Amino acid sequence: MDLSDMRKKYKGDEECFEEDQLVSLDPIKQFGEWFEEATKCPEVGEANAMCIATCTKDGLPSARMVLLKGFSNEGFRFFTNYESRKGRELESNPFACLVFYWEPLNKQVRIEGRVERIPYQSSCDYFHSRPKSSQIGAVVSRQSTIIPDRQYLRQKNSELEERYKETEVPMPDYWGGYIVKPTMMEFWQGQTNRLHDRIVFMKSKDGGESLGEMQRQAEGGWVYYRLSP
Ligand SMILES: Cc1cc2nc3c(=O)[nH]c(=O)nc-3n(C[C@H](O)[C@H](O)[C@H](O)COP(=O)(O)O)c2cc1C
Repeated sequence: MDLSDMRKKYKGDEECFEEDQLVSLDPIKQFGEWFEEATKCPEVGEANAMCIATCTKDGLPSARMVLLKGFSNEGFRFFTNYESRKGRELESNPFACLVFYWEPLNKQVRIEGRVERIPYQSSCDYFHSRPKSSQIGAVVSRQSTIIPDRQYLRQKNSELEERYKETEVPMPDYWGGYIVKPTMMEFWQGQTNRLHDRIVFMKSKDGGESLGEMQRQAEGGWVYYRLSP
């Protein structure tokens, strides 16, 4: 199928994203602003859905969607199975890239950073805050392993529902959260005429480096600059 004519006209320039329109020179706060806008936009189905790319130690990439479950100055949190493909890749190569795309708003955010497991107790607290069916689901699914058929999952699910009918579901030790600690965040705003805005924040290594050409000082040890679209 030839898709060469398939393109969308983005909104007008009144949405233009100038540096002086940044809500904050702190990229986490800037993210918070865009995220809130996305959650309030009825056309955005799941504002916290993000693509996460990971890599093997040899540099072979893989990507998939997960749900953002929290963010702060510390970083961006999500939960998964530590023995899944992404989990194995992160254990041997603890770096990831996150991408949010809020299509009705013509906004994209890219985040890169080092990844760490969150403390066991924080994972436990979140695990037990989920509906029981989701807790059982996490136990049923040894994510990313080969299984014979759907019936296998159904049966395991029923067995576990029976086993934990009266009691709490213990969190499996192969399940938990990760935090992506950002060192790069890019805010992309689509424009008519394809002159899209791209503002990049980079964490400066020691916080005290001299600014490069066309770089500006942001807050909290970040610098920012504009990229050509
Ligand atoms: C919108 C959406 C949200 C998802 N959220 C999660 C999530 O929060 N955690 C998770 O482990 N998988 C989530 N998944 C499933 C993953 O995309 C993926 O199938 C799974 O994590 C296994 O990936 P892996 O084999 O690359 O590790 C989600 C899928 C979609 C489409």
